[in-house]
Amino acid sequence: MITKYFDVNPLEIEYGKTDEAAKILLSGGLVAFPTETVYGLGADCENKDAVKSIFTAKGRPMDNPLIVHVSDIAMCEKYVSHIPETAELLMNKFWGGPLTIVMKRSKFAIDEVTAGGDTVAIRLPSHPVAHALIKAAGKGIAAPSANLSGKPSPTTAEHVKEDFDGKIPCIIAGGKAEHGLESTVIDLSGERPMVLRPGVISLDMIKELLPDAVYGGGGEGIPKSPGMKYKHYAPDAKVIVVKGDMKKEAENCSGKVLFMDYEDMRSEYEEGSFLSVGQDDTSYAASLFWLLRLADSKKADFVLAKDPRGGMPVSDALCNRLYKSAGGNII
Ligand code: TXA
Ligand code: MG
Repeated sequence: MITKYFDVNPLEIEYGKTDEAAKILLSGGLVAFPTETVYGLGADCENKDAVKSIFTAKGRPMDNPLIVHVSDIAMCEKYVSHIPETAELLMNKFWGGPLTIVMKRSKFAIDEVTAGGDTVAIRLPSHPVAHALIKAAGKGIAAPSANLSGKPSPTTAEHVKEDFDGKIPCIIAGGKAEHGLESTVIDLSGERPMVLRPGVISLDMIKELLPDAVYGGGGEGIPKSPGMKYKHYAPDAKVIVVKGDMKKEAENCSGKVLFMDYEDMRSEYEEGSFLSVGQDDTSYAASLFWLLRLADSKKADFVLAKDPRGGMPVSDALCNRLYKSAGGNII
């Protein structure tokens, strides 16, 4: 298959391109598109076969439900049985933006999207290109991150190409993803608001509106956000998170070692072995997946990643993704 490649400037959208991509979607094809978190791999959320083809393309387990992306609240209403008051509060404050809300589904949210469950996850992205695409499609776009299952999520169209060139009909390029980590997922379908996946919108920010919100789902028993139980964000290189002395840990690694650390530590490392995460956890989060893919392109055997310093809204989410990419290897 030849992949159509559209370059769309988010500040000056050429609607001819997003309209053509929407046509591909509506005819059952997959379209990768930029969002402010990571790139998504989209399908018409009401088309069973199209949605199923997302799972095949990614190699994603079928029991892991997808997020429906909408361009306005009216579109959201179509896919949920009703919008709870708690959701309204969050939507007013954080939509469009990196927050996904799980609510009771309507009949328009099909089993292929919800993995057969009675809830559906909805997100209204802020990225202008994502917005233009969904609006042109006129219905929800089901989209996971546009990476092969298990790989770091894509923050540029180049990453999407690495995984899907020749395998899907269309990729829209729209610049580097601003946040670099996937959206916060909050479940508002139960008694108590539960953050199932941390993200840029932190639990503390949510608690200002919903004081009884808690982290949940990742504990014992069956995870509520099924995606969280799978191997994730892993490059080919072995990632080790280091709380102490990076150089000392490197002595235990054989092969090519790259060091991922804050910019102010640059002088500690040899040029060529240093991957800068910038000045703080916000820049660390924005560059994490990008650097993990860069490490693979440099054929690293090991990535020693400095344990995040903490103290920023995104720090929980950063630790969550980094620790997973390390498969829990933290020393
Ligand atoms: O930022 C993002 O959220 C990106 C962009 C493309 O929007 N998308 C994304 O999708 O990260 P994905 O499929 O990689 O992650 C979706 C997460 C998974 O952990 C999944 O289990 C959870 O959301 N999820 C989806 N529907 C759910 C539901 N009905 N109940 C609970 N968890 C759900
Ligand atoms: Mg993903």
